[in-house]
Amino acid sequence: VQETPTLAPPMISGAKPDTGHFEEFCLNPAPFLMRCHEECGEVSSFDLAGLKTTLLVGEEAHEAVYRAPDSQLSAAQAYQLMVPVFGQGIQYGAPPAIERQQLKIQAAGLRHDRMVLYAPIIAKEVREWIADWPDQGEDDFYERFTDLTLKTSTHCLMGADFRATMGDEFRGLYHDLEMSVDPAGLADPHKHGAMAERRDIARARLSELIGERVTKRKEALARGEEFHDMFQHYLDATYADGTALTDHEIAGMVVWFMFAGHHTSGNTSSWVLVELARHPELMAEIVAELDDLLGDSDDVTFQALREMPKMDAFLDEVLRLHAPLVTLTRRVMHDFHYKDYLIEAGGNVMVSPYVAHRLPELYEDPLVFNPKRTFPDGAFAYLPFGGGRHKCVGNAFALLQVKTIFAYLLRKFEFELSQPAEYYRDIMPSLILRPSDPCRLRFRRRVR
Ligand code: HEM
Repeated sequence: VQETPTLAPPMISGAKPDTGHFEEFCLNPAPFLMRCHEECGEVSSFDLAGLKTTLLVGEEAHEAVYRAPDSQLSAAQAYQLMVPVFGQGIQYGAPPAIERQQLKIQAAGLRHDRMVLYAPIIAKEVREWIADWPDQGEDDFYERFTDLTLKTSTHCLMGADFRATMGDEFRGLYHDLEMSVDPAGLADPHKHGAMAERRDIARARLSELIGERVTKRKEALARGEEFHDMFQHYLDATYADGTALTDHEIAGMVVWFMFAGHHTSGNTSSWVLVELARHPELMAEIVAELDDLLGDSDDVTFQALREMPKMDAFLDEVLRLHAPLVTLTRRVMHDFHYKDYLIEAGGNVMVSPYVAHRLPELYEDPLVFNPKRTFPDGAFAYLPFGGGRHKCVGNAFALLQVKTIFAYLLRKFEFELSQPAEYYRDIMPSLILRPSDPCRLRFRRRVR
């Protein structure tokens, strides 16, 4: 007879009387989670101001989390902090059956036949982005990349017409939404205060703006114009019962995808650049790969993007050491058993790509940046895009975007760190990992 597990996951040291480990976690979850694993191993727990959270580490433990149904380990309940941002009735603010259909609509917008359409849009944005750079200079490339990925995201999601008229108002509203999300929100998703107020005002105004775009788009369609962007996909989409998305839902779908794709790609691009500049010999190999592949052409086609093994390996390694999502969280809806441990309902469980990707049993010399390394085969060892039923639906789009950026950038410019290499570290001021702020690098036009 199998015995029911009864062991409580070990609690890590350093809890404060009232707030537990909340402050240490919020300061930077990445080193905090590393400490949890170092102290307790495969299963450790900590206290986020009253919310008991259990970190599970290793292929077997990740698999157990990813194989559990949503009814037991719920992403929706863990990520309630996103509901006021995306809007009621969207994603985790919708009943599960609606959420699934919305996710299907999102995923269908990124099918292969549509990606072929997005590739030239991203390429156009990148070309325009670098068109007026001087021959040499220095800048904060985190700022530059987040600006660029805002442009590419809005262009692909909302269409050329919106992108052409995208003004400071849209940027400001979107910024207010972003500022309202931080690690503390995992413990208290219903926080009130000035940030939350600005968030609600911004979300309501975005609905209005997007509603205006829907009206304009419908007028253009009536004039016989045709559109193939994601925005049109939302307008054409229907639920299983045949109903169309409302304007509020379309706005929510746009904001949801902007959130999922903007900073993840921008931060990854920033880390790619820093690692390239840290490893000039690897940068030279990638530039040679691009030169061989593209010759004198200034065009990077969709097909060419699929023929860059060195660039692919480099990105895999960047996403190993700097996976932008550090905490993948689920709410325990019913007691969850793992080996001898009983993880009680009401708390959260976490899987951390940051910790997983630094396990010496999976990765030789895990802290060394080495794109030539062998990656483990198991499906639950390398998790930059998560796993199981909530695995990222935008991974191919993200890679397409980052590769396009570097295919253009590296053929035109060379880069150098502005600070000593050890200055650039993983920091986490919001829910996403990024390199140290500011993230300055020097650039010089390449002589071909
Ligand atoms: C989910 C990573 C870019 C759309 C996820 C998850 C991860 C992830 C780890 C799982 C979250 C969890 O299990 O709690 C990344 C990284 C990206 C990236 C590292 C870029 C380098 C994108 C882009 C899009 C996107 C560009 C859309 C255009 C989504 C969506 C989900 C998701 C919709 C939720 C899936 C669900 O709830 O079932 N992403 N992502 N992501 N991602 Fe991405």
